[in-house]
Order: sequence, then structure tokens, then C-alpha cells
Amino acid sequence: MKNQMTIPKLMAKKGKGEKIVVVTAYDYPMAAIADTCGVDILLVGDSLGMVVLGYENTMPVSMEDMLHHTCPVVRAAQKALVVADMPYGSYQTGKEKALENAIRLIKEGGADAVKIEGGQEIVEVASAMHKMGIPVMAHIGLLPQTASLWGGYHVQGRDEAAAWALVEAAQALEEAGVFAVVLECIASEVAALITEKIDIPTIGIGSGPNCDGQVLVSHDLFGLTKGHIPFFVKKYAQLENEMIKAYDAFIEDVRTGAFPDAEHSFPMDAEEAKKLY
Ligand code: KIV
Repeated sequence: MKNQMTIPKLMAKKGKGEKIVVVTAYDYPMAAIADTCGVDILLVGDSLGMVVLGYENTMPVSMEDMLHHTCPVVRAAQKALVVADMPYGSYQTGKEKALENAIRLIKEGGADAVKIEGGQEIVEVASAMHKMGIPVMAHIGLLPQTASLWGGYHVQGRDEAAAWALVEAAQALEEAGVFAVVLECIASEVAALITEKIDIPTIGIGSGPNCDGQVLVSHDLFGLTKGHIPFFVKKYAQLENEMIKAYDAFIEDVRTGAFPDAEHSFPMDAEEAKKLY
């Protein structure tokens, strides 16, 4: 049965103290593997701009990019909930445009929910989406879509005022009807406080252990990301090394004629083959 994970089941995990596991996915094979392994949410993150499309940041990612990558993830997901990121510019220019784009990700992309970045400034948009029946995940703390405009990627909530502003933003988003909130790069104590102060699940990334769940970018955890990798990433594999070994071996085999060998070729019937010469 498709999509056994539902939003009510996901939200109930918080009450039961069950940690929520989220990974990013941008294509069919990776999504299928993660889904089979039992992750709760496949996030089609706009991080795809960096880890798949080779942009410097997530800003250039378009709605078409998001739709293109959401569809195969949805086709692969048999159990996990699929959440699609709304890219920069798709929800900041007014409620109507935001609703239109969120509906596209759900109707054309097949996503179960959308994710938007921001605190108090997105409460109105989140509320409008919720009222229209669109499940919304929020994302506060470090906001990758605009971080580069403000001088880079820094830990958020480092003093008391900043900490309470984040708590209040999370509470306002909960009030607006979002079903979960990603906490990115927030000081651990502040993430713990937010998690305690709201009834919806918090999904941490670089925000310490006291969140209701954790998310990582799959390419980061696989050791496949080119360029800068945030300090909070734990690499669970070194797939780049494995890929290099495989490509090197293939190049060598083709150049020396070792591939394809008899085992990987399809001979004709011997008598028929003789007639060819
Ligand atoms: O785009 C993304 O992958 C994200 C995660 C880092 C939460 O937003």
C-alpha cells in the first residue's frame, strides 16, 4: 500500500517519544532505497540545487526543478511521506502565488506536503495553505535560501533574545497549522526548548539531540557531496571513494579490452556465426 506514513501518524510519534527519521531524496533509486529502509519522510529538498545540479546555493532552484525531482521520489515512495520544498521565490510574493505553487507540487508533483522557510514572516502564508488543506512543514533557524544574502551560514539562537524569538516563531507557526518544523543550525539548548514548548514535531539538522526527529542531506551522509560540508554532518559512508574505484576499474577494462568478456557478451549460434564470414 502506498504512503503508509500519514501526517497524524507522524505527529503522534512525538507523544510516543518515537524519533522521526527524515532524509533528502531527489531521484527514484535513492528514494526507493531509503523508503525500503524505513525512513519516515523523504524530503525533496531544494538542497538538490547544490548536491545534484551543481549550483553554489539553493537560490536558483525553480518550481520546474522541484517538480521534476518530486515526481520520481513520489513514484518510489511506498511507505514514507513525501515532502517537497517550495523553492526561493515561489511563496514570498503573495498568498495567491504561494497557494498556486504549493498546489502544483501536490497536484503535478504528487507530494504529500510542502516545506517553506521562515519564521513570523511566513505565518500568514502557512496559515492560508493550511486553511486550503495543504499540509505544511516549516523551517526555521538557519534559512539556506537566503543565508548567502546575509553573509553565510551561522548557528542561530546564540543569545537569549534570539532564542526566544525562535521559540515564538515556532509557536506562531504551530498556531498557523503547520504539522512539523525543521530546526536548522540552532543552538542545542534552544532547539530543546522549542521542542518542549510546541506540540508538533521538531526535526533537527545541526540542532542537537533533543529534537523529535533528525534530517540529513543524503549526499552528505553518503560522502557524495562536492565542496563544503557543514560541521554537523556525520558521514555514514564514503561512497565517492567507492565510485572512483568503480570508474577507474571500468576505464582500465575498456582501454585494455578486458571488458566486455565472454561472460558479458551474447554469442550467436556457432553455425549461424560461421555464415557471417
Ligand atoms: O533542502 C534541504 O535539503 C533542506 C534540509 C537541509 C532540511 O531543507
